[in-house]
Amino acid sequence: MKIYLIGYMGCGKSTLGRKLAQRLNLCFIDLDKYIEERNFRTIPTIFAEEGEEGFRLCEKKALEEIADFENLVVATGGGAPCFFENMELMNRTGATIYIAPPTEILVERLLKSKNERPLIKGKSREELTRFIDENLQKRAPFYEKASLIIRDKHNLEVDDVLRLLEKQ
Ligand code: S3P
Repeated sequence: MKIYLIGYMGCGKSTLGRKLAQRLNLCFIDLDKYIEERNFRTIPTIFAEEGEEGFRLCEKKALEEIADFENLVVATGGGAPCFFENMELMNRTGATIYIAPPTEILVERLLKSKNERPLIKGKSREELTRFIDENLQKRAPFYEKASLIIRDKHNLEVDDVLRLLEKQ
């Protein structure tokens, strides 16, 4: 069994993933942390040294490795489903859950943590809102290939996810 949590930066993949893994007695992997460990560098350093293109290659390679592991919940980076055949790989090797909170929630959360994220570092509230709106439009077709989509939930809890998974 393998569950991939996908969705925009700040949608809560890591927090929910950790709880979901604990409840289902599965291992938890945060794809970004895995990339950092495998490359001995932080995500901002990989972006600075190799650009987004280099980062996407590291991300693809990490995902291919993880796709071979079993019994785990994976919190992916926000861009992971939108490059190469990553979304197809995830759908082939597990269940994919797209978490899509309202944009206002993403903006609030990301304003607090934007400096750890190279794509949005230093943006004002207005710039961030516009960036998310535009970027989400491009990414939505990829995210929407998920086996389960959870939209507009404010405080998403593990029980909600389990209930929706059962209903499928
Ligand atoms: C990215 C999201 C980040 C990280 C990188 C790029 C993106 O992960 O992979 O900064 O392209 O949306 P989180 O979604 O965990 O912030």
